Amino acid sequence: MKVLVLCMIVVLLWSSVKAQLNPTCNSNDSIVLKSFMNVMDSAIDGWTTNSSNCCDWDGVTCNLDGRVVKLELSKKRLVGTLVESLSSLDQLKTLNLSRNLFRGKVPVLIFHLKYLEVLDLSSNEFLGGFPDSVDLPRIEVLDVSDNNFVGPIAPGLCVNSSGVRVLQLGVNYFSGEIPPEFEKCGLLEHLSLDANLVSGIIPEYLFRLPKLVKLSLQDNLIVGQLQNSIPSNLVYLDVSLNLISGDLPDFFHTFPNLSYFAAHSNNLGGRIPVSLLNSGSISSLILRNNSFSGLIDLNCSAMVNLELLDLTDNKFIGTIPDNLPTCQSLKVIDLGGNNLTGQIPESFKLFASLAYLSLSMCNLKNLSGSLEILQHCSNLTTLVLSRSFDNEEMPYDSNLQFKMLKTFVIPFCKLTGMIPVWLNGLTKLRMLDLSWNQLSGHIPPFLGNLPSLIYLDLSNNFLKGVIPKSLTEIPELLYHNVSLEVSLEYAISMKRSTNGTVLRYSYGVRFPPTLDLSDNFLTGPIWPEFGNLINLHVLNLKYNELSGNIPSSFENLTCIENMDLSHNDLSGEIPPSLVKLGMLSKFSVAYNNLTGLIPSGGQFSTFSASSFEGNPGLCGEFVLSCEKVHQSLKARVSEFEEDLMVSFPIWTGFGIGFLFSVVLLLVVPRIRGTEKLDKFE
Ligand SMILES: *[C@@H]1O[C@H](CO)[C@@H](O)[C@H](O)[C@H]1NC(C)=O
Ligand SMILES: *[C@@H]1O[C@H](CO)[C@@H](O)[C@H](O)[C@H]1NC(C)=O
Ligand SMILES: *[C@@H]1O[C@H](CO)[C@@H](O)[C@H](O)[C@H]1NC(C)=O
Ligand SMILES: *[C@@H]1O[C@H](CO)[C@@H](O)[C@H](O)[C@H]1NC(C)=O
Ligand SMILES: *[C@@H]1O[C@H](CO)[C@@H](O)[C@H](O)[C@H]1NC(C)=O
Ligand SMILES: *[C@@H]1O[C@H](CO)[C@@H](O)[C@H](O)[C@H]1NC(C)=O
Ligand SMILES: *[C@@H]1O[C@H](CO)[C@@H](O)[C@H](O)[C@H]1NC(C)=O
Ligand SMILES: *[C@@H]1O[C@H](CO)[C@@H](O)[C@H](O)[C@H]1NC(C)=O
Ligand SMILES: *[C@@H]1O[C@H](CO)[C@@H](O)[C@H](O)[C@H]1NC(C)=O
Ligand SMILES: *[C@@H]1O[C@H](CO)[C@@H](O)[C@H](O)[C@H]1NC(C)=O
Ligand SMILES: *[C@@H]1O[C@H](CO)[C@@H](O)[C@H](O)[C@H]1NC(C)=O
Ligand SMILES: *[C@@H]1O[C@H](CO)[C@@H](O)[C@H](O)[C@H]1NC(C)=O
Repeated sequence: MKVLVLCMIVVLLWSSVKAQLNPTCNSNDSIVLKSFMNVMDSAIDGWTTNSSNCCDWDGVTCNLDGRVVKLELSKKRLVGTLVESLSSLDQLKTLNLSRNLFRGKVPVLIFHLKYLEVLDLSSNEFLGGFPDSVDLPRIEVLDVSDNNFVGPIAPGLCVNSSGVRVLQLGVNYFSGEIPPEFEKCGLLEHLSLDANLVSGIIPEYLFRLPKLVKLSLQDNLIVGQLQNSIPSNLVYLDVSLNLISGDLPDFFHTFPNLSYFAAHSNNLGGRIPVSLLNSGSISSLILRNNSFSGLIDLNCSAMVNLELLDLTDNKFIGTIPDNLPTCQSLKVIDLGGNNLTGQIPESFKLFASLAYLSLSMCNLKNLSGSLEILQHCSNLTTLVLSRSFDNEEMPYDSNLQFKMLKTFVIPFCKLTGMIPVWLNGLTKLRMLDLSWNQLSGHIPPFLGNLPSLIYLDLSNNFLKGVIPKSLTEIPELLYHNVSLEVSLEYAISMKRSTNGTVLRYSYGVRFPPTLDLSDNFLTGPIWPEFGNLINLHVLNLKYNELSGNIPSSFENLTCIENMDLSHNDLSGEIPPSLVKLGMLSKFSVAYNNLTGLIPSGGQFSTFSASSFEGNPGLCGEFVLSCEKVHQSLKARVSEFEEDLMVSFPIWTGFGIGFLFSVVLLLVVPRIRGTEKLDKFE
């Protein structure tokens, strides 16, 4: 009994505490939210009409007086349009709030919630224009990014909401110039207009907003030159993927706190200005894909914070600067696609901070000496040297050691020689790409034992011999691990994909677990044990001389998305169990000597005839008419001359062979005569 009373007291106390935590929604705010809910084209998860207290609803936060202060509705799949027609609460009260009345239209009333501090509608599917009238006097964070808003960039925003600190308008279709009214947002700290259709120049006053530290205008239609004359507090400035042209002004002394500066993919040219080459604040400098020229002459005694230097795809000349190791914080260097010559400087031996080096498409010499030097960089994890060297020999008999190396990419260099033994010591290696060279000899078995390997590309070389069985035991590919993929870190860009989701992409694409041995001279079988590599996503063995059957164990490659076995000498049937491979989206066994029925169902119903062509013995419902196949079978049968009993055991040798042989027994005697005529006349 006592216990029961105690329990009741506890329950009462708890509910009163709960009531205090969740105050009753102010009736005016309640009407606004209910109208918002009713007029959406989609339901709002966690909002129920039966709980009248809107402070209980998902994503709604009230203050102690029951006023709505936060509305956080990101990624709720909301569909709707903001309209101007209903602008006052009184007007709303007189209207019938049934769903049909304003289907697809959201009254702008939520833009008049006087107590609202945070409004997050990001990553939904709002359409149409942004309301002209915004009265959110207490708003601090407004995020409508990743929707389908069109029209001008709400000039009204900063008029009644001058206290806003964060404005996220990115990934929409806002157009026109950045409105002069934004100057009134004196407390603005972070403004993002990424991935819109913003045009015109960047108004100078933006740089001067006293609190603004992050300005992101990536992927718009901004033109003109950058301008600033008095000190700015900006820490982060991204103007990449615009149409900004001319020289970069020598104005970086007016950005004493600028740490991140990205202006990639514009029409900028000329020299890098002196104030930038001497900036003590810059940590990331990303100028790729412009037309900058001249020598790369950073003042490393000044650039003490520089960590990332990306000057890829410009017109820089000269040698790789030998002072780079004196930039004490420098970790990431990408200088590819410039007309740099010479070799890796000797000074790089002391480059302890270097983690990522990409020098693709430079005219470098002396791979052997370069690797000799780079092995001293004890923190080096990524080395990308595509098209950097030409026609040299792969250093083979050396004691090269790259203890930390995770990614080694050196394709398109016409390297001769063999796959070197020193790769055996690369125990951290996750990605090895030696494709498009002229490497000969056998594939060394140790590659299959590299403990961290998940991506191996040896395609387009002159490799011969049997595929070593060890490649069926690559440790990281034997177990399911969804997160396993190589990505070249340091994301620089954000873009809308065609289906509306936001894509982040890095310096390279992301690389799924891959085994690519295509375009070599490999012989022998495809080991059935390859079926153990259950984490493999891409298997490419095309253009070799592999023979034998397609192993039925491939049914166990449940992650496989892309399998190309074309242009080999494979025979036998396509194992019917491959229809179980639900992720398989690209598949080819074209130009082999396969026979039998093409499996049907599953992903196989999505492949076209080109996946199977060049196999005269294959027959399938949606590819070749089985009749044609029968004719070629007939042709072959005729070679066995009259004695059908000889051909019978041969045709029964494979799965559905018996069926064929029955057909043959019925038709062959009739056509044998014509066959003979074709052949001998
Ligand atoms: C609702 O709004 C009306 C008109 O602005 C005001 O008179 C009334 O006091 C408000 N009610 C509450 C509960 O705040
Ligand atoms: C609202 O009603 C549904 C059933 O109609 C019920 O499942 C749900 O628990 C109720 N929610 C609240 C908050 O009362
Ligand atoms: C609102 O409209 C619905 C259907 O359109 C109707 O059934 C209901 O009676 C109306 N309510 C008022 C108060 O007019
Ligand atoms: C500012 O708020 C007032 C009162 O709600 C409103 O009438 C006006 O349209 C708002 N101004 C802008 C530019 O949004
Ligand atoms: C830069 O940052 C420092 C501290 O991080 C701060 O004191 C200073 O006001 C900022 N602005 C400028 C213009 O230096
Ligand atoms: C390089 O910049 C141009 C615009 O200047 C852009 O169209 C192109 O896509 C960019 N290329 C890459 C690889 O980013
Ligand atoms: C490089 O930077 C240092 C330190 O800021 C400075 O003393 C020196 O004059 C600079 N050198 C050049 C060539 O600008
Ligand atoms: C690269 O520079 C060399 C001289 O350093 C010059 O001869 C060559 O034409 C340049 N190549 C390109 C593509 O600009
Ligand atoms: C090397 O890398 C480690 C781990 O990332 C880091 O802690 C260390 O500071 C780096 N060394 C240098 C000299 O940058
Ligand atoms: C949209 O495309 C991306 C990349 O192409 C994909 O990862 C994502 O699953 C797609 N989303 C939908 C909803 O189709
Ligand atoms: C697929 O894997 C299972 C479990 O490891 C194994 O028993 C089976 O034999 C494999 N299938 C084939 C065709 O090898
Ligand atoms: C297919 O096999 C036959 C005989 O077994 C052989 O003559 C022919 O060259 C093979 N075709 C291919 C493309 O390997």
